[in-house]
Amino acid sequence: MTTASAPGKIILFGEHAVVYGQPALAVPVRQVQAVAEVVDAAPGSGIVIQAPDIGKTVSVSGASTDPLALTARLVSERFDSPRADVLITVRSTIPIAGGLGSGAAVSAALGRALSAHLGRPLSPAALSEIVFESEKLHHGTPSGIDNTVICYEMPVYYVKGQPPQTFHTGAPFHLLIADSGIASPTSETVGDVRRAWEHKRRAYDRLFQHIGAIADRAHDVIRRSDVAELGPLMSENQAILRELDVSSPPLERLIAAALSAGAGGAKLSGGGRGGNVIALVTSQNVAPITDTLYDAGARRVIHTVVGTD
Ligand code: PMV
Repeated sequence: MTTASAPGKIILFGEHAVVYGQPALAVPVRQVQAVAEVVDAAPGSGIVIQAPDIGKTVSVSGASTDPLALTARLVSERFDSPRADVLITVRSTIPIAGGLGSGAAVSAALGRALSAHLGRPLSPAALSEIVFESEKLHHGTPSGIDNTVICYEMPVYYVKGQPPQTFHTGAPFHLLIADSGIASPTSETVGDVRRAWEHKRRAYDRLFQHIGAIADRAHDVIRRSDVAELGPLMSENQAILRELDVSSPPLERLIAAALSAGAGGAKLSGGGRGGNVIALVTSQNVAPITDTLYDAGARRVIHTVVGTD
């Protein structure tokens, strides 16, 4: 049996604008993960994938349009060996459609486990390319940030179409990730933003550029370890996400609660409307802010320290 895992991820700065060529920053979140196990199956059975948590079983064929089946097919096609006969089981503790990269992480764990089982583990770059193809089936026009951060398992400064730049944080910082419990498919918010951009290109391009400038400043701040400057940048980014109409009353409640309890800054993360908000905290105020987030309706709060790897 071959087992591999992949972490979740969170976007710190730049969601949505990244689809239009602006830089974005994202980091892995190891508290949640996807795991894939591969075992040999009877000759002639081909590749079968099962995801017991969501009651799904798919047989991989040339025609399948399932994201996991596509990942398995693209991995197996890289090997000249005869068709693989394996059973792959995937499990994940990453909430679906919550902005933590569940789809990309499950594909990455599967690709990693299958390529290792077939005797040639994929590099992060090769794995990321394959997971990107599966992401297209999930949400149409992905920027590529999810597959990149999840496959490289490092903080990433990402500009669509450019080689990803991984980076190290100057000093670790604490984040709370609060799940609103509202599933919000990224394809919907990305589609809504695209329609709005088509109507008001000039105004939206300006908003995207502003977000890109914030992501650039945040990249400097994080590498210089001026963590105190990070909070205001998060709130500035959130103000523009609000203008893009991808926030929502439940997310705003969580953000306001975190700020009132002393967070240095807070914003939604990922596609928006539902999913997660992130709040910048310290080791001293992590407990009271966590309580406040639960009181404000969070279904789950994850504490993560960025930059301790
Ligand atoms: O909701 P998530 O975590 O999949 O993030 C989506 C991020 C967007 O910028 C909105 C879309 C993208 O493909 O980058």
